[in-house]
Amino acid sequence: MPHTDRPVAVRARGLVKTYGSTRALNGVDLDIPTGQVLGLLGPNGAGKTTTVRILTTLLKPDSGEASVAGHDVLADPNGVRSAIGVSGQYAAVDENLTGFENLYMVGRLYGLPKREAKARARELLSRFRLDDAADRSAKGYSGGMRRRLDLAGALVAEPSVVVLDEPTTGLDPRGRLDMWEVIEQLVATGATVLLTTQYLEEADRLADSIVVIDKGVVIARGTADELKDHIGGERLELVAADDGDLATVERVLKEVGTSEPVVTESTRTVTVYVDTGAKSLMDALRKLDAENVTVQDVGLHRPTLDDVFLSLTGHATEEETS
Ligand SMILES: Nc1ncnc2c1ncn2[C@@H]1O[C@H](COP(=O)(O)OP(=O)(O)O)[C@@H](O)[C@H]1O
Ligand SMILES: [Mg+2]
Repeated sequence: MPHTDRPVAVRARGLVKTYGSTRALNGVDLDIPTGQVLGLLGPNGAGKTTTVRILTTLLKPDSGEASVAGHDVLADPNGVRSAIGVSGQYAAVDENLTGFENLYMVGRLYGLPKREAKARARELLSRFRLDDAADRSAKGYSGGMRRRLDLAGALVAEPSVVVLDEPTTGLDPRGRLDMWEVIEQLVATGATVLLTTQYLEEADRLADSIVVIDKGVVIARGTADELKDHIGGERLELVAADDGDLATVERVLKEVGTSEPVVTESTRTVTVYVDTGAKSLMDALRKLDAENVTVQDVGLHRPTLDDVFLSLTGHATEEETS
């Protein structure tokens, strides 16, 4: 059990799901305390959407169990559905309707009386900064506006648990920032949020705790800070002035560091993890000076979540592709 006195809003134990010969999930456990944001972080194909589909009752696990807002996903799928709002990577927006009509329709589908459905639509449009576009067809909306409208649709029925499956994948930087602000506002209302993402900065910024998943297995969990502390120390980066010195820099950093140095020839950069920060840096510079190596640039950085992912999996998260 997590060390918290808040009740757990989402709980999964030992989720396994196989598609043919692909084991999409191989025993995933997670807990989200009420009112918190859990970032489920992993590259393409890690099993994020499969987890979301099980938790939202769209898919049955081969084994394992899960509950959302106290409702078991297998025994009480209707109870789960009534407690959650889901917004996905592929916006479920009707392009032929205006923003207002989209939200009004969702409200009516949930059984709100006309007047309430209208009021709720207007309120959400304003909260998601879509007032100006409210009466325009969604066909003309930007990608970011569609995502915001889709998320607004997920909130019409005031769910206590909100599931966001890669809410910013494919958005441009502006759209991503807008979406982050909207998600932060949502969190401020006390909603429990499961957010899947491939973007480490997104998890870093929005999530109270992070579960790192790769190939259907949880490979780490904790707060962003805990994950960064876990790999320990700092990342030391040296740029050699001369291509010919790269091998020497690599050898010296191997002596000073706690990991295998990584050499990037195109930028003449060698990177290594060190556990004594500035002292390691001084050591390295002294040794290189003794070997007449000129260093063009140095840097000492706290690990980023990218470093965490790399050190855990031996590969980076997917590059952003369009
Ligand atoms: N309907 C499906 N049929 C067969 N394989 C699937 C299906 N859905 C997902 N997979 C496979 O399961 C794995 C996890 O997929 P998914 O949960 O979609 O990952 P993510 O959302 O993290 O990108 C991947 O290897 C994917 O190819
Ligand atoms: Mg997915």
